[in-house]
Amino acid sequence: MLPQWIIEKKRDGAELGTEEIRAFIAGYTDGTLPDYQMAALAMAIYFNGMNARETADLTVAMMESGKVIDPAALPGSKVDKHSTGGIGDKISIPLAPLVAACGATVPMISGRGLGITGGTLDKLESIRDYRVGLSEAEFFRTLETVGCSMIGQTAEIAPADKKLYALRDVTATVPSIPLIVSSIMSKKMAEGIDALVLDVKCGSGAFMKDIEHARALAKGLVDTGTAMGKKVVALITDMNQPLGRTVGNALEVGESLAILRGEGPADSQGLTLELAARMLALAGIGGDGPAALENGSAMETFEAMVACHGGNLAAGLPAANKQIPFPAPKSGYVAKADAEALGRASLLLGAGRAKTTDSVDHAVGLSDLKKIGERVEAGEPLCTVHSNGHENEAELRKLLDSAFEISANPVAAPPLIIEVIEG
Ligand code: URA
Repeated sequence: MLPQWIIEKKRDGAELGTEEIRAFIAGYTDGTLPDYQMAALAMAIYFNGMNARETADLTVAMMESGKVIDPAALPGSKVDKHSTGGIGDKISIPLAPLVAACGATVPMISGRGLGITGGTLDKLESIRDYRVGLSEAEFFRTLETVGCSMIGQTAEIAPADKKLYALRDVTATVPSIPLIVSSIMSKKMAEGIDALVLDVKCGSGAFMKDIEHARALAKGLVDTGTAMGKKVVALITDMNQPLGRTVGNALEVGESLAILRGEGPADSQGLTLELAARMLALAGIGGDGPAALENGSAMETFEAMVACHGGNLAAGLPAANKQIPFPAPKSGYVAKADAEALGRASLLLGAGRAKTTDSVDHAVGLSDLKKIGERVEAGEPLCTVHSNGHENEAELRKLLDSAFEISANPVAAPPLIIEVIEG
């Protein structure tokens, strides 16, 4: 079958067969099928979608374009978490060691921040000398000795996704549920895991701005993982305000350490424990998350993982030159602390990238963020700005002014967990 016949079929709204999807992705990966035909198919998928069976076939084809870790090669019950990305979402950093301290194995392949959303790898690299690029032998050794390892996507994992994601980026085909699902799940399923907990972010600082889109993505991810024989659950969680009280790489590692001490902000501490409980339940391990925080074993696991990655926690975290309080213009209750505006402010300070090749400033960002529903007095800081002077001050001020709203009347804090979608 010629590639254009497969494109034609999807263009006309028909269902693609398993072999057609497999052949198309194999040809694209080995370069025999050109970018323009892949782009045409991606656009046909964008308009006509894919059913659950086609999405699972596309995921398998992309996963099998590269190395798939044999679950038998790793010890114990293997479980991971994936977040679709947001502002101040540092949860992976305390979560992986917490779950490992309870007895599971967590082989976590993470990403970098792009645009306003942060990335776990950038955050971890604020720890001096932490290497996200371990060799396969080092990765396996860390998992065996510590129970968790957090690395970047290697060239061997899902190369079809690497090529296709770059192509989607420049052909306006990123926001398609089957394409997003297959992209995320092809990488996660290559980790050799038995179970996966998904944190689908919903709100102004997330990819999915409303509950209908978040629900459709969560359902697509859960259905695909389940069709591939894994235990999967998705939580849809609020991303209209940042998670926790910090945004920015080193600041978020600082908050992660507080969570590991059991002293984090209520929302990020609570979500870490909730996701840990879900991961342990799926892994069939009766571990006790709060006890692992209290007895210090989660912190010890984190320190051991950092050491295996060459990181030096004793060197401390980088700090910005200036810490500037941003005062509330009046007294009242915080009615808005907009995740998108605060993400943009952090980007302006230098914490993120405009394009993948940019470098990040690990020290800058925002801390002491007030949360929706909290009382503030006029002049009291709504947040503290950590700056190394990269930003346009007027632009930053405008973003911060637009991010917060203060109400004279009490405001209820919004629920963090909006919905749970089980496999
Ligand atoms: N994250 C991914 O890995 N892929 C997508 O398509 C979107 C978000």
